[in-house]
Amino acid sequence: MCGIIGATSSRGVGKILVNGLKKMEYRGYDSAGLVLNQDEAVFQLRTLGKVSNLEELMTKERPKANSGIAHTRWATHGVPSETNAHPHGSNGNIYIVHNGIIENHDELRERLVNEGYEIQSQTDSELIAHLIHFNKEKGKTTLDALIETTKELDGAYSIAVIDTEEKGKIFAAKQKSPLLVGKGIEENFIASDPLAIAGLAESFYLLEDGDFAEITKDEIKIVGSNGEALSREETIIDTSVKEASKDGYKHFMEKEIYEQPQAITNAIEGRTADGEVLDNIFGLGSSEAFKGVKRIQFVACGTSLHAAKTARKWFEELCETPCYIDFASEYRYRNPLVEDDTLFVCISQSGETADTMAALNYAKDEKYLGIVTICNVPTSTMARESDWKIFTNAGPEIGVASTKAFTTQLAALLLLACSISKSKNLNKDKRADAINDLLNTPSLVKESFGLKRHIDEIVEKIADKKNALYLGRGVYFSIAQEGALKFKEITYIHAEAYPAGELKHGPLALVDEMTPVVALAPEDELVEKLLSNLEEVKSRGGTLYIFGNATSKIKIEKGKFMNMPKCGYYNAPIVYTIPLQILAYEVACSIGTDLDQPRNLAKSVTVE
Ligand code: M6R
Repeated sequence: MCGIIGATSSRGVGKILVNGLKKMEYRGYDSAGLVLNQDEAVFQLRTLGKVSNLEELMTKERPKANSGIAHTRWATHGVPSETNAHPHGSNGNIYIVHNGIIENHDELRERLVNEGYEIQSQTDSELIAHLIHFNKEKGKTTLDALIETTKELDGAYSIAVIDTEEKGKIFAAKQKSPLLVGKGIEENFIASDPLAIAGLAESFYLLEDGDFAEITKDEIKIVGSNGEALSREETIIDTSVKEASKDGYKHFMEKEIYEQPQAITNAIEGRTADGEVLDNIFGLGSSEAFKGVKRIQFVACGTSLHAAKTARKWFEELCETPCYIDFASEYRYRNPLVEDDTLFVCISQSGETADTMAALNYAKDEKYLGIVTICNVPTSTMARESDWKIFTNAGPEIGVASTKAFTTQLAALLLLACSISKSKNLNKDKRADAINDLLNTPSLVKESFGLKRHIDEIVEKIADKKNALYLGRGVYFSIAQEGALKFKEITYIHAEAYPAGELKHGPLALVDEMTPVVALAPEDELVEKLLSNLEEVKSRGGTLYIFGNATSKIKIEKGKFMNMPKCGYYNAPIVYTIPLQILAYEVACSIGTDLDQPRNLAKSVTVE
């Protein structure tokens, strides 16, 4: 993953680069670095850990320079360390930052070593710097040397380059990783995300795969792989989002949990009227096109995949449409057989996840009826590349662990199920129930916050355990999976979700008095069966923490029963998500992990 930024200006750029990196820490935060260039002089700083460490060093050193490039890293090749941090240099004059993965790095490394290059780091990225240097030595300009270099790279990259022999210039290349050029006044920029240069760039050029750029403070040149000039549309992007702040909460995750009533309201607002979903909320022509949907293929990763799994039943019931769901990272490698009239649906908070993006690109060459994206970031690549889209309007989600992204995705998925059902003229009554439930969701979510005081009583009993089991049946198995993911990613305690009926086929062996078992027991057609499964846990000495309705007839000697608000059929899965988020959050707080930026993770996963 990683975030890259470059700036060339008539003023000093050090602070601009560090501020930009801070806004991109969601892309990785294990190390950071920059290179500043003024005339022939070069100043390089690299630090382990978060961007704040780099910032601290910068305030001590106070370097001045008019151009520079910078990077915040999420390690792929090579451990997080100062040596592996970017920028990487070659021969003291070429410096690069890279986001992506170079797949043929072994072979390139061997070649460069044979050419006499001394490789300092374990990264694939450093090789790019040496290759540019090698190609430049053959008499090429820096831009041509960069173009030549990319011909030898297999994989994904966005690259920014500084050559100390090319005063005030930044060079860039893009292939399958996001990169844009920002145009300012007497200064220009490149960045992985427009937010990194919000307030500085007045307009943007979104680079396409295979594009190269050479920028100075006064000029932006975009060329193709033969050096031919390309014209890319100059666009205005609204980067005026409110500066993210915790608003008095301890963590962004906590704030994002308690923002959910408003976030869900925003996801629904203006999309329904008089108990019916409005036409074309997925874009012009979508309602007409949805008439022909016979099947749906979902792709997503992580939490977003859990949203697809939860929503499947809605599509089957409201649209009478079979659904296929794939991990985005696996989808294209199984050579999927695409049947006629299949709608392809991507779900992604960021709209930049490399695996989901790769699946989308694959789907474009298949005979899908069309591509729909459900995402939270209007400026994202996925949103641009899809036929139809809906934004979840959750507002920026900063905590790495998704909370409001998930519940607003569920709201958007229910809207999609209703839209297809309406286009196909099916199940009007059920659709009215679904919309009614959707509109009631924010207040039920608010009510579910009351469970916190019960959760507080069980936190300490769970925080010292090594493993936890999460159980549910039907759609609540998908909610249990999301709960277990949340729990493990921020508490670092292993947690696994199972459909409760599956326990006896193996996982029951894990149950002992040291294994908390969290179960979801809504009052539905499977509750009796679930309760029998939970009796099996009790008989093995397991401790049960059950979220359900008081009418569920189970007596707990060890553990706790927590009574959920009375929900509707369609909104219950959304509401049952909330106590699982609170449980994960409170246990992580009690353990003291870095829960907005848990170890080894990043918010936006832009490598395969
Ligand atoms: O941005 P996306 O929704 O495409 O991200 C996919 C996953 O990386 C993401 O959902 C991840 O699993 C969650 N942040 C975990 O809480």
